[in-house]
Amino acid sequence: MRFQLNKVFEHQSVLPNECLAALQLKPGGCYVDATFGRGGHTALILGALDDSATVIAFDQDKEAIRYGQQRFEKESRLSLVHDNFSQMSQYLNQHGVYGAVDGILMDIGVSSPQLDDAERGFSFMRDGPLDMRMDQRKAQSAFDYLSNISEKELHHILEVYGEERYARRIAKGIVQSVKDNRLKNSTLSLVEIIEASGAKRDKHKHAATRTFQAIRIAVNREVEVLEQGLYSGLQSLAIGGRLVVLSFHGLEHRIVKAFIREYRQKDGDIVLKQIGKAQGVSWHERKQNPRSRSAFIRVMERVK
Ligand SMILES: C[S@@+](CC[C@H](N)C(=O)[O-])C[C@H]1O[C@@H](n2cnc3c(N)ncnc32)[C@H](O)[C@@H]1O
Repeated sequence: MRFQLNKVFEHQSVLPNECLAALQLKPGGCYVDATFGRGGHTALILGALDDSATVIAFDQDKEAIRYGQQRFEKESRLSLVHDNFSQMSQYLNQHGVYGAVDGILMDIGVSSPQLDDAERGFSFMRDGPLDMRMDQRKAQSAFDYLSNISEKELHHILEVYGEERYARRIAKGIVQSVKDNRLKNSTLSLVEIIEASGAKRDKHKHAATRTFQAIRIAVNREVEVLEQGLYSGLQSLAIGGRLVVLSFHGLEHRIVKAFIREYRQKDGDIVLKQIGKAQGVSWHERKQNPRSRSAFIRVMERVK
């Protein structure tokens, strides 16, 4: 079921068996799903736990939380928290489980419902408002962001967050279109401007893919909150607890790798070890769920 008309959108959970195995679930344990989405991973976790277990799930998107409240209406072991995972340790501290969490899953990035609902503004395939906010309470949409950015800053963002080869010409095209009032509050208006600036397709990628990714990362401050979220998660674990992270593109992979390098130092106050190597998605899963194709799972354990 995936259609625009009555807004039913689904999300297929990535690497489900691998995530469950990596968490090494204890039946009565305390677990955190930092990125609830449509609750696919949460449901699997709950299914492997007994009645004494606790699961706390975060999402900054009010649609995800609303969906979760309906789907898990009768599930007393689950608490749904409408907040950014960068705030995880504060919440867990207030609820008496800071330093006592047995496992945390972070499946970062956007969900299929966010991508598929044109009204959210993440899609360059369907027209919608140029929004891209995962957290609808935040003030600045993608349109506001682009309306106030300098060419130099946008060039940098497109290069670093989008790894976009044509960053210079796209930045120039967008900033000029803002000055000329040609950029409308519409995703397809932005696509037109990107194409007119001379950006080209990249192998199988649409010419707008990397620019949309970069703007989405900037609007949601994804780099900062991922760094904070990883640290917040590690701090919240019990010794021996697991932090399992799914990342989806080069920038995210690099942030997770740098985090692992930093916290595996033996002389720090908080220390982790990496369990196994990063693992990608099988040919079979990629074929059945193309959006999973660039995913990697990394597993860490808190040792100090
Ligand atoms: C890839 S989806 C998760 C899908 C989920 N694992 C499932 O099986 O249904 C990512 C979700 O995390 C949320 N999210 C992304 N970054 C977040 C953050 N910093 N804090 C809280 N939620 C976040 C998004 O709103 C989205 O709903």
